[in-house]
Amino acid sequence: MKIEKFTIDYYEEIVALWRKAGINVGSSDILEEINKMLQRNPDLFLIGKINNKIISVVIGGFDGRRGYVHHLAVDPDYQKKGYGKKIMDALIEKFRELRVHKIHLFIEKYNKNVVEFYQNLGWEIRDDLIMMSYIPDKELYKMRI
Ligand SMILES: CC(C)(COP(=O)(O)OP(=O)(O)OC[C@H]1O[C@@H](n2cnc3c(N)ncnc32)[C@H](O)[C@@H]1OP(=O)(O)O)[C@@H](O)C(=O)NCCC(=O)NCCS
Repeated sequence: MKIEKFTIDYYEEIVALWRKAGINVGSSDILEEINKMLQRNPDLFLIGKINNKIISVVIGGFDGRRGYVHHLAVDPDYQKKGYGKKIMDALIEKFRELRVHKIHLFIEKYNKNVVEFYQNLGWEIRDDLIMMSYIPDKELYKMRI
């Protein structure tokens, strides 16, 4: 698998990949929002290709203090072959180059079987935190692709 930076030309392909892998695509995944994320994090938004077909994707984000990982997915036809680990290793290397101190990710409870995947990669569960969210504009949040 060859790892490359994501470019917006691949937008439709990665949305299809997220859907195929069971990722919930929402208001933050419309073209404009993905483009915004890409502009802010051009080196952290990665895809993996085999024979020119995108089979993995991950969005990395850095807010100046913490790193974040969003929407990691490997095409179900290519899972359990080491590609998830490979693209995550590449992303972690990018974070390391940026000298990011700590990286977070969120796993929805319905998907808790992936916890083990991340633990394998050295991630730790936080039981000292409660995650809270706030929606400043409910109309924006309702947008669907
Ligand atoms: C999670 C996901 C990215 C893993 O990708 P993958 O290419 O199948 O993972 P890898 O083959 O690189 O696995 C690396 C290691 O983790 C293990 N692993 C992979 N998926 C696992 C799972 N669901 N549960 C437990 N272990 C898992 C592998 O066995 C492997 O272990 P090994 O090195 O001892 O052989 C992939 O299953 C996926 O796209 N899932 C659907 C989308 C998703 O849930 N994304 C995460 C959102 S938070």
